[in-house]
Amino acid sequence: MTKLSSSILNSNFLDLRSTIEMLNESDTDYIHVDVMDGNYVPNLTIGPPIIENIKEISKKPLDVHLMIIDPDKHIDSYIKSGASILTVHYEACTHLNRTINYTKDRGVKAGVALNPHTPVGVLEEILPYTDLVLIMTVNPGFGGQEFINSSFNKIRKLKDLIIKHNYNTLIEIDGGADLSNAAELINAGVDIIVAGTAIFHSNDPLSVISSFKKIK
Ligand code: DX5
Ligand code: ZN
Repeated sequence: MTKLSSSILNSNFLDLRSTIEMLNESDTDYIHVDVMDGNYVPNLTIGPPIIENIKEISKKPLDVHLMIIDPDKHIDSYIKSGASILTVHYEACTHLNRTINYTKDRGVKAGVALNPHTPVGVLEEILPYTDLVLIMTVNPGFGGQEFINSSFNKIRKLKDLIIKHNYNTLIEIDGGADLSNAAELINAGVDIIVAGTAIFHSNDPLSVISSFKKIK
């Protein structure tokens, strides 16, 4: 059963409480929180204090995506903020094995994200330790970008690798997902779809969320 992680990046941050309350009543499986530091990506968003506030009222687990340089420096605050999944970028970590194990030892699921130009092969040594791989299907930094089509191949390659080794690693994709490509993503082996603009730029977010969940 493919899960949906609703990204609040393109929601109105002044209305965060009503956004979270709407998501609480929706069929979304996770709330996807995009943390951007203005260095790793050319955009700046929110950090631990706001995530803590979201956690206080959220009935859904928080799927926190760290687009920040040297996440080790801040990882304790993000763990404390109430993340259920904490994903760091492969390209931003010097000691990825340590970061992943540190996260898991504190009871949080550990994810590794790959930028579009990073091949899945680099994960060979880390995959057995990783709960989730997040394949970026746009260049990270902004919502509302066009899905990069070559990502399908990448998803299939990763799925083959996971099956070959009998790992439990989940595949998540992030960027440009909508109701028109969701079926193909599920078919390629995606376990969690992140969607932002498709939900928050529609007139009826609740119905878009349930439509995502009905796609097989
Ligand atoms: C982009 C973020 C995404 C973004 C996805 O860097 O990581 O989570 O919110 O938004 P859409 O679904 O609009 O591409
Ligand atoms: Zn994201």
